[in-house]
Amino acid sequence: MFDFSKSGADFPLLTKFVAEACCIHLGEDKRYLFESRLGPVISESGATSIPEFIRMARGDATGKLRDRIIDVMTTHETYWFRDSHPWAALEAQLLPALAAKIASGEKSRIRILCAACSTGQEPYSIALLLQKLCSGGALGSVRPSDFEILAFDVSRGTLFLAASGRYSQIEIARGLPEFWRNNYFDATPGNTWTLREQVRRMVTFKRRNLQDSFAGMGLFDLVLCRNVAIYFENDFKRDLFNRLADIIYPSGYLMLGGAESLLTHGHLFEIDRLGSAIFYRRRNNA
Ligand SMILES: C[S@@+](CC[C@H](N)C(=O)[O-])C[C@H]1O[C@@H](n2cnc3c(N)ncnc32)[C@H](O)[C@@H]1O
Repeated sequence: MFDFSKSGADFPLLTKFVAEACCIHLGEDKRYLFESRLGPVISESGATSIPEFIRMARGDATGKLRDRIIDVMTTHETYWFRDSHPWAALEAQLLPALAAKIASGEKSRIRILCAACSTGQEPYSIALLLQKLCSGGALGSVRPSDFEILAFDVSRGTLFLAASGRYSQIEIARGLPEFWRNNYFDATPGNTWTLREQVRRMVTFKRRNLQDSFAGMGLFDLVLCRNVAIYFENDFKRDLFNRLADIIYPSGYLMLGGAESLLTHGHLFEIDRLGSAIFYRRRNNA
């Protein structure tokens, strides 16, 4: 494994590269993360120093080494119906309210964006709720195909897993009540569970960086951006939520992680409490 002990002075080259690649600023105190996660990648690359490794990553026209660095340096922690309250509100209030706009003819399609979706549990949790609501008749004549769910992440590795819809026994147990597993997954080889095609096809996964412009994506009725902004610096966070506001319909919703809040954007979003959950609603006049 690559020996970091002689590379102290070159260490900032790694932190700078990662910050540029995905806006994640990890300081000296997170040195152990670089060592444990990037050590094997540096060794595999054959580089004998950090400057040589960075030169290889910058010079790699295929982008594969850069992608590998992003894959290992991003944290992909996620699980089904993460933080239960907002999901209860989605099922009981928000999704039926959005569906009512289709039923009334006000809209022909509801668009949902899941930014930084990791291995897919988050967008698929929405798809599962819609499947259940529609099959139980709670949304009248509205069908799952009336909803478009777009999900993206900067990490190609996580997107590959997300698109497969295949989860280990441990992943399937995290946050997913048996009802969902029994009704929407098939047991597959290797002690895995695979989400049925009817649910998988409801979500489109794309690779995208939150640093990139959102121009051309159109407007969304609901945007989830959860448990990722915690890794960003304040200036980028401000810019990110300003840009997200630009792609949310007036009165549309933003859903953050359970421990996150949006204190600096009161001019763009107002708080909407649905049951025990907090959503941010795009102001009409901003
Ligand atoms: C901790 S996970 C959160 C996943 C999910 N949203 C949730 O709350 O369970 C953070 C995800 O953000 C992604 N990410 C980090 N920086 C990103 C960036 N600049 N653009 C897009 N995705 C990013 C990571 O790859 C990772 O999958």
